[in-house]
Amino acid sequence: MTSPRPHALITGASRGIGRAIALELARTHDLTCTARNKDALASVARDAEAAGARVRTIAVDLAHADAVTEALADVACDVLVNNAGVATLKPFLQLSPDEWSAMLDVNVNALFHVTRAVLPGMTSRGRGHVITIGSTAGRNTFAGGSCYVGTKHFVMGFSECLMLEVRDQGVKVSVVMPGSVETELVPSGTDTSWMIQPSDVALAVRHLVDTPPHVLQYIVEVRPLTPKRRRDGSARG
Ligand SMILES: NC(=O)c1ccc[n+]([C@@H]2O[C@H](COP(=O)([O-])OP(=O)(O)OC[C@H]3O[C@@H](n4cnc5c(N)ncnc54)[C@H](OP(=O)(O)O)[C@@H]3O)[C@@H](O)[C@H]2O)c1
Repeated sequence: MTSPRPHALITGASRGIGRAIALELARTHDLTCTARNKDALASVARDAEAAGARVRTIAVDLAHADAVTEALADVACDVLVNNAGVATLKPFLQLSPDEWSAMLDVNVNALFHVTRAVLPGMTSRGRGHVITIGSTAGRNTFAGGSCYVGTKHFVMGFSECLMLEVRDQGVKVSVVMPGSVETELVPSGTDTSWMIQPSDVALAVRHLVDTPPHVLQYIVEVRPLTPKRRRDGSARG
């Protein structure tokens, strides 16, 4: 009898980096893929199943805490990838309350609701891996990023504290910090030719998932090799 595949839960799996992570992990894991867009989730599921995974999709808005808790109540996973995120990049005084709240809901509060849903299973089994997609914006700052950058700094504080809490219980916590990635998160009209691809970030997740059981790699930062140059000559990305 073949042993069952490990199971990965991925948020924001309908497109971009989350989709790429789903397709990468589908080679070795069964998947639960969540996002709001049902059609896009169905498309990811088809491609992940073609790669050998059994796939469950859950359409849920991460901004709705009760719905998240209910939707994930019976999910048991070996790997959680907290990937979903939203970014509205504009000067602070131009941010609407809704834009502010959406970033807090998805980039920050959902980390509580999603992680809280599956972490007890991981600690009771004495193994598991929580991987959160942060950003180089988690330690850099830029004008127009007051809320988004703040949420990504939160990811770093949250993840390191959680890592220190649960590593003695066999659960790994890691952060992937991408630089600029060509996805729909990037404002339209931006030159994306120099950016890395979602699949490049997925390889960082693969690297973390494949670390030996006794090894905890906490941070992987992945950037374009040749970043965009600003007019002042400083690099970005
Ligand atoms: N792109 C970059 O340059 C970059 C750089 C560093 C870090 N990151 C981080 O990488 C992660 C993925 O970003 P991406 O670039 O792949 O963005 P993306 O292409 O816009 O994808 C975002 C994903 O999050 C999901 N999502 C958004 N709001 C949601 C909500 N309220 N409820 C449930 N799911 C929601 C979306 O699915 P639905 O719309 O179907 O719900 C989608 O699957 C984010 O955490 C982002 O901060 C991105």
